Amino acid sequence: MARAAVVCGLGTHLPSRVVGNDHLARELDTSDEWIRSRTGIGQRHLADPGQATSDLAVEAGQRALKSASSGAGQDGADAVVLATTTPDHPCPATAPLVASRLGLGTVPAFDVAAVCTGFLYGLAAGAGLIATGTADSVLVVGAETYSSILDPADRSTRAIFGDGAGAVVLRAGEPDEPGALGPMVLGSDGTGSELIQVPSGGSRDPFRAENADRADPFFRMAGRQVFRNAVERMAEAVTEAAARAGWRPEGVDVLVAHQANVRIIQAVADQLGLPRERFPVHLDRVGNTSAASIPLALADAVTAGALRPGHKTALAAFGGGLTWGAVTMTWPRVAPA
Ligand code: ACO
Repeated sequence: MARAAVVCGLGTHLPSRVVGNDHLARELDTSDEWIRSRTGIGQRHLADPGQATSDLAVEAGQRALKSASSGAGQDGADAVVLATTTPDHPCPATAPLVASRLGLGTVPAFDVAAVCTGFLYGLAAGAGLIATGTADSVLVVGAETYSSILDPADRSTRAIFGDGAGAVVLRAGEPDEPGALGPMVLGSDGTGSELIQVPSGGSRDPFRAENADRADPFFRMAGRQVFRNAVERMAEAVTEAAARAGWRPEGVDVLVAHQANVRIIQAVADQLGLPRERFPVHLDRVGNTSAASIPLALADAVTAGALRPGHKTALAAFGGGLTWGAVTMTWPRVAPA
């Protein structure tokens, strides 16, 4: 039987600068009332100028490694997978820099790009490295500095996104252990690729002097079109992940969903027929942190006592690509460092 990937460490980092809705309302045509009622977001943390994704990833990674070493006696990691939409540079990947700054030496390290589903794709990649024997332990980080790709004049994205990082350590183990990841459900639909996009700066529309006046280097999202898709895809993915794990959806104690919008989280709960209290909400304090949102929400739920060892736990995400996914596990005795 393939080796399971078992969660044994958890760490997070948020940049210290906190920007509330009222502050945004002084710069943009928006209001605290609109942002809270349409999204549930009250504030977000933003990186300072000069602070890059790797800086946040290293802090979260260090804490996850510390959590793994103090809780499970797991020292270091044999590989690093970094999920991000906002790498330090378009080339090379940011993960090798994170690995070396963490003192992990010459381990395999690569980035995963699945926007807000990135952390789940990262877990799948990490679990694959363990299953094939390429690594016995993997640091999976979700880290973002969305503030670096948001249009300063776009109220519809600046109200939503925040910066931050979260990480877990996976180690090789048995499928029936607490913390062992169940079968992953992942999907994509490239026919919706323009709904969430940075239009320029890639090979389709490279930056060139001749197109400088029409290039769009900023993140764009067709929020309303994405909304319904997000609810349906996450609910379906959780149902399938639970079934593959041999659980009924109503048996899920805690469902940590990607923190995009509290109305999406509530709609997923309603669609699954689960009480909304089983869905931890963290976005009120950090906004949508894309690939970092699930590990940040996990750590917040553990700290608040809402997620405890033995809880039947599901993780679910939806994001650009379009992409989506879900996975189950019994929450292990792991606390954020
Ligand atoms: N303040 C005030 N008004 C605003 C703001 C704001 N911050 N943002 C948008 N509006 C306005 C719009 O301009 C629009 O005005 P109009 O009717 O005059 O054109 C109106 O509010 C309604 O805009 P919608 O975009 O339809 O608002 P909606 O209620 O759908 O909320 C939101 C927008 C919050 C983005 C919502 O659609 C959403 O959460 N969508 C899903 C996002 C998601 O899940 N994305 C995937 C994951 S994220 C990722 O992958 C990176």
